[in-house]
Amino acid sequence: MIGVDDSGQVLSRADAESAWPWLTVHWQLTPPEQGCYVQWMPDDGLSLKSVESGDRSSLRVDYQRGPQARRIHAVTGELLTRALGCQQGRRPAIFDATFGLGHDSTVLANVGCYVSGCESNPIVAALTADGLRRSVNEPWINRIQFQYRDALSVLPEVPSGVIYIDPMFQERRRAAPSMEMQFMHRLMPNAARGDSLLEAALTSGAARIVVKRSPKAPVLAGRVPSTMMHGKAVRFDIYPLRKVTPEDCQPWWIEQQR
Ligand SMILES: C[S@@+](CC[C@H](N)C(=O)[O-])C[C@H]1O[C@@H](n2cnc3c(N)ncnc32)[C@H](O)[C@@H]1O
Repeated sequence: MIGVDDSGQVLSRADAESAWPWLTVHWQLTPPEQGCYVQWMPDDGLSLKSVESGDRSSLRVDYQRGPQARRIHAVTGELLTRALGCQQGRRPAIFDATFGLGHDSTVLANVGCYVSGCESNPIVAALTADGLRRSVNEPWINRIQFQYRDALSVLPEVPSGVIYIDPMFQERRRAAPSMEMQFMHRLMPNAARGDSLLEAALTSGAARIVVKRSPKAPVLAGRVPSTMMHGKAVRFDIYPLRKVTPEDCQPWWIEQQR
């Protein structure tokens, strides 16, 4: 991956790079002639840009300011938290198999859930890890464990709690896709549907599996959920495997991959 760093503050960059060691970046002073590249800025951290999208559009994870910070702090009765089984006095531990940019997981951690999660795309994972690195003072940060890893290797080992799966939407939408979605689709033009994630989750020890779908999308793996919760732009398919107990609210962390 080509990286642009025109700040000359190599030390702060090297410090940040330790949060996303899986991404090999060839740093240079100017953007490449075409394609995607990452940009490093000492105050703003890591962002993804593309020559074709122009200088002003970029993908950057920010949990402290802007729309995602507002979403994290505004959450009271968000459909997501209800779908995952949060109730008064009950905050299940979540395994987020498709952590992505961490938008859903940070909301869940802020309401008190312990969340461990995996992201398998190295660039998305680096942007997310950098966002988490910059959030070290947020009150929810210690409830999150994040790894760059394929969730398929972890799902069968999930001992308890609730598994959350949010595969990329593949259906055509009428509305123009956001800049963020455009970058995500460019990084993953052939994203898998997520059927294998659901099949693997069904072999785990979790109490419940929750899948986020677009409202009219077919169910994953042909598995009909017990309940569907409908929001304006999303649907949550719920697969209860057993009763949620206090044990399911206890944190457990994925063993770090070496
Ligand atoms: C729609 S995005 C998830 C968005 C996320 N819920 C959020 O709030 O930011 C789907 C993500 O799942 C990731 N993914 C797909 N298959 C995966 C797998 N087997 N293991 C880990 N991550 C996976 C993709 O790389 C993509 O970033």
